[in-house]
Amino acid sequence: MTNDDSLPKDKGFDRSLQMLKEGYTFIRNRENKYHSPVFETKLLGEKTYCMVGEEAAKVFYDNGKFRRQDAAPKAVEKTLFGEGGVQGLDGEDHRQRKEMFMSLMTKDSLDDIQSITTGVWKKYVNRWKDREKVTLYDESKKMMAETALTWAGIPFEEKDVDEWAKELSDLFEKAADVSISHFLSRRSRSKAEAWIEELVDEIRKGERKVRETTPLFKVSFHKDKNGELLELHTAAVEILNLIRPITAVSVYITFLGLALHDFPVAAEEVKEGGEEERKRFIQEVRRYYPFFPFVIARVDKDFTYHGASFEEGTLTLLDLYGTNHHPDSWSKPDSFQPDRFHNWFGSPFDFIPQGGGDHEKGHRCAGEWITLRILNESLRVLTDSITYHLPEQNLKYELNDIPSLPKSGIELEYVKKKG
Ligand code: HEM
Repeated sequence: MTNDDSLPKDKGFDRSLQMLKEGYTFIRNRENKYHSPVFETKLLGEKTYCMVGEEAAKVFYDNGKFRRQDAAPKAVEKTLFGEGGVQGLDGEDHRQRKEMFMSLMTKDSLDDIQSITTGVWKKYVNRWKDREKVTLYDESKKMMAETALTWAGIPFEEKDVDEWAKELSDLFEKAADVSISHFLSRRSRSKAEAWIEELVDEIRKGERKVRETTPLFKVSFHKDKNGELLELHTAAVEILNLIRPITAVSVYITFLGLALHDFPVAAEEVKEGGEEERKRFIQEVRRYYPFFPFVIARVDKDFTYHGASFEEGTLTLLDLYGTNHHPDSWSKPDSFQPDRFHNWFGSPFDFIPQGGGDHEKGHRCAGEWITLRILNESLRVLTDSITYHLPEQNLKYELNDIPSLPKSGIELEYVKKKG
């Protein structure tokens, strides 16, 4: 089957280096150039379709049109997802595995992670009182690693939290770094993966006791559609699929700190307001700041969209950042306005920082509610429970760094409990 000429083509050589240079704006730049939300380019030596915007997201999340198997480059799969993880499954296999994740997101479980977050923040704020300066990003990584391990039911010692934080954040800091060298490097299996495999093995053999309500126990004894336990390696991958992204919430906590500094009027509204104002501020932080640049799939069956044929097997990228900033869905998309989420009736396809569509039926992030609970608690602490000062520092973040973070990591001075 040949491609219809009506799909604009980003002619010329492979655009991988260009993508690195342009980062989060790569797809939107070309949408503007070709006046089309869909175009064809070449990335990592492969023909690739790029899409952006609400309409494109609806197509991308139509389960019949795309598949996830063999979509992510191997190096990303190895580091960010783990081989055999839910992200690369389709159809009934995906539905079954996703059900396992969603069954961990009950109200009790969310209440649990929220109170763990509260406790962890308290502990760290207490520690900071003897320090003149702390870096919010570094501290958040440790706080989130500790929150993740505690919630998941993974035994750990206080002295090992720094190492866990490093190990877990390496997985998202490095994998999201879309550098050519990284794509070429095949990272060896992480230490965390090996250790969790051992842990699951001991739990299954009854050599180690853990509470039956913990995610660790539930994943260890989850059965696939044939009634079989997951392979040890797959179980470890899925447990990491819980604790790694919880650690990654540290990126958003850092952006909360930045937004409170950069947008004083909005910050004042949160400080004076309550739950509702916090919610809007958090949604706007997730919309406004860059995190996951895009999601990747392959065309499952030939279909036509925008007058062009999409060929089976072709790699396809949906731009998350670009969709969250798309002028068809958002007025003044590049200004920070939490009020836009007041009585907001958006669709599951225009606000997609953690993927779009349906949580149960599709690949949308299983941890979106956990993320919101943690951020709500973190914002409450930052605005209600502590005072601090931001010294002179480089707060700039770049749209061509993936993941993008304020250069200083947000240094806080003289952190004190209020009252
Ligand atoms: C830091 C905030 C987070 C961001 C920005 C984020 C982002 C994403 C994105 C973009 C996807 C892919 C969606 C797709 O493929 O269409 C995803 C999937 C996923 N996320 Fe998150 N996530 C976050 C937090 C979490 C948390 C806290 C958890 C678990 C506790 C989690 C677990 C997952 C899982 C299991 C998937 C795979 C879902 C599937 O393939 O069906 N994430 N996330």
